[in-house]
Amino acid sequence: MANTKKILLEHINVPGIETYEVYRQKGGYTGVEKALKKLTPDEVVEEVKKSGVRGRGGAGFPMGMKWSFLAKPEGVPRYLVCNADESEPGTFKDHYLMKCLPHLLIEGMIISSYALGANKSFIYVRGELMYVIRILEKAIEEAKAAGFLGKNILGTGYDLELVVQPGGGAYICGEETALLESLEGKRGNPRNKPPFPAVKGLYQCPTVVNNVESIATVSWIVNNGGEEYAKIGVGRSTGTKLISASGHIRKPGVYEIELGLPVDEFLNSDEYCGGIRDGHHLKAVVAGGSSVPILPAHLFMKTANGEGRLMSYESLSEGGFATGTMLGSGGFIAMDETTCIVRNTWNFSRFYHHESCGQCSPCREGTGWMEKVLHRIEHGHGNMRDIDLLVDVAKKIEGNTICPLGDAAAWPIASAIRHFRDEFEWHVTNPGAASKPGAVYQHLNEMSV
Ligand SMILES: Cc1cc2nc3c(=O)[nH]c(=O)nc-3n(C[C@H](O)[C@H](O)[C@H](O)COP(=O)(O)O)c2cc1C
Ligand code: SF4
Repeated sequence: MANTKKILLEHINVPGIETYEVYRQKGGYTGVEKALKKLTPDEVVEEVKKSGVRGRGGAGFPMGMKWSFLAKPEGVPRYLVCNADESEPGTFKDHYLMKCLPHLLIEGMIISSYALGANKSFIYVRGELMYVIRILEKAIEEAKAAGFLGKNILGTGYDLELVVQPGGGAYICGEETALLESLEGKRGNPRNKPPFPAVKGLYQCPTVVNNVESIATVSWIVNNGGEEYAKIGVGRSTGTKLISASGHIRKPGVYEIELGLPVDEFLNSDEYCGGIRDGHHLKAVVAGGSSVPILPAHLFMKTANGEGRLMSYESLSEGGFATGTMLGSGGFIAMDETTCIVRNTWNFSRFYHHESCGQCSPCREGTGWMEKVLHRIEHGHGNMRDIDLLVDVAKKIEGNTICPLGDAAAWPIASAIRHFRDEFEWHVTNPGAASKPGAVYQHLNEMSV
């Protein structure tokens, strides 16, 4: 399946593609022209539904279905909010897309806002990315000057104002309801659901929140038709996906893959990751950002039934959490045999403890306990009961919190113990060796790839 069809990154290497002029020369904004002049808003929604595209922010919820849930009460404004907060460790594709192809996102925002009946839309960008915010603001000015934003766009009578909002500087502000709170000027605490944003979102009005990559696909779908999009990919994983690849691979970076690409090809071919760095072999993989379960190499490459896995929502989750994982946001982290799984798990747990907003006790207290216990084991002061204690605390957090950050904190720890329990035990029985910097337990079941 080499040479994936490029939907998002087709023109990424064209000099000046971040400017309106070059983007337009390459066929940019023809999607806006087609949508606003030839299609009704409902027809645009229909194309997105037909495409089968699933939200690229992590949960993989069908985008067209989400759009069709939007409430439409008379006389109440509706909003589209683009989630560009991207703070999940291991995920950096939205940053890349906005930096290099700002007009692709803006074009998607215009078409999507038109489809949803929104006249004011927001791009909520991770606050640390000030230079990206400036790139987007410049691109918005260019699009406005060309008549694609503002009043009476292309003489169609449709008005749209696009606002770029710097984020609050916390991972939790990427959770959609926390993002809406933050956008309203409050502390970014997640809201209880229901009501869902489609009914009561920004300023209590019907709102759609979509990821940058999700929105950026819309102009291709409108130009080529939802059915054409649905032909790309595999099964219910239609289209292409941006993967942020990092860790011990030869070629880290952002890759656009066709969903359904064999994981072996993604990991080892020179078109993508280029294999594990010389002289080393794969030990474990976090396939979809730090929140998804970690898998040992053999279960990442093949399902428990021995079938080669594919880069798709279904294939990566084959086997449930016992032997599978999730595609998530596409934050792919490869770890070779020099990685200490206990240290890595402790590191993730520090992040989630730090980022918990503190509203619910299981997450606020549990993330802190897990971090302390993992610190103890990693630094040679743990005992065997600590390992079961971690499993117990993780179970008590899972499913018992207001937002999914609690699950995101519990899954990496529960899966690390499920698949690498012997490594945790080795840390307990060899406290002196384990606590030395760089000490790594050689996993018995590792598989060379
Ligand atoms: C703690 C947390 C952080 C999140 N961060 C992001 C983020 O940075 N970007 C994003 O698109 N979605 C993020 N999400 C998912 C959003 O809540 C939401 O599902 C997504 O923006 C919907 O867009 P999509 O349907 O296009 O995927 C996060 C969720 C949680 C629980
Ligand atoms: S799960 Fe954690 S981050 Fe989410 S609302 Fe509860 S305390 Fe806040």
